[in-house]
Amino acid sequence: MLAVRDLNVRYGGIVALRGVSIDVNKGETVLLVGANGAGKSSLINAVIGLVPSNGGTIHFDGRSLDGMSCDRRARAGIGYAPEGRRVFPSMSVADNVLSGAFGLSRKLQRQSFAWLCEMFPLLAERASQPAGQLSGGEQQIVALARALSSNPAVLLLDEPFLGLAPVWIRRISDAIRQMQQRGTTILMTEQMARPALKLATRGYVMRGGEVRRGGTVAEIREIALADEYL
Ligand SMILES: Nc1ncnc2c1ncn2[C@@H]1O[C@H](COP(=O)(O)OP(=O)(O)OP(=O)(O)O)[C@@H](O)[C@H]1O
Ligand SMILES: [Mg+2]
Repeated sequence: MLAVRDLNVRYGGIVALRGVSIDVNKGETVLLVGANGAGKSSLINAVIGLVPSNGGTIHFDGRSLDGMSCDRRARAGIGYAPEGRRVFPSMSVADNVLSGAFGLSRKLQRQSFAWLCEMFPLLAERASQPAGQLSGGEQQIVALARALSSNPAVLLLDEPFLGLAPVWIRRISDAIRQMQQRGTTILMTEQMARPALKLATRGYVMRGGEVRRGGTVAEIREIALADEYL
């Protein structure tokens, strides 16, 4: 579904990704794990079109994403929940969620919000409250729902556990499991390998802008956990 080949990303003189190749197949949850600065966000941001690549290819459903705007990639079915959540603090929870459902008719937006509320009751309870008043974990639920509201074919989650207490890591994990049960294909990044490995089917360990190892969760577990404490 998503195929990245020999991807290079540079910020001026800084090389963020060097020859990175990964695959995400339909129905899988793939984990990108690695320490600070490993290049996880750069890879996600290159897939959504937020940063340009300096070589390599990205194909989604067999189509090259080269030259395609962020907006068109989103409409093509790539959903995204950013690192640090970035909810709109003064906008209501409902409006935050629906900001991801741009392009859908009012009716479809209402339907989308209704099933998201079923999945995450918090959204209904807090629908009219400004999202900035929510806790970090609650905001992460809003960010996940916003990313899901357009019913994407693949969902990119950049460090969904960042800064969260263990109880919220468990709740966000449950939320991700619910998305998996709906058949959502997921590419997620995490520094926290331990809880993330419980959710993934396959993964890649990144370090210094390169993929050090890729494989099943069992195959990468040891090196992923060793890297966690670097
Ligand atoms: N906008 C930018 N300008 C310059 N350098 C950047 C920029 N964004 C990232 N970098 C650099 O690119 C490299 C990869 O960073 P990236 O954010 O992709 O890593 P990461 O794995 O997501 O890290 P973290 O776990 O801290 O989020 C790092 O050396 C970082 O300093
Ligand atoms: Mg990052």
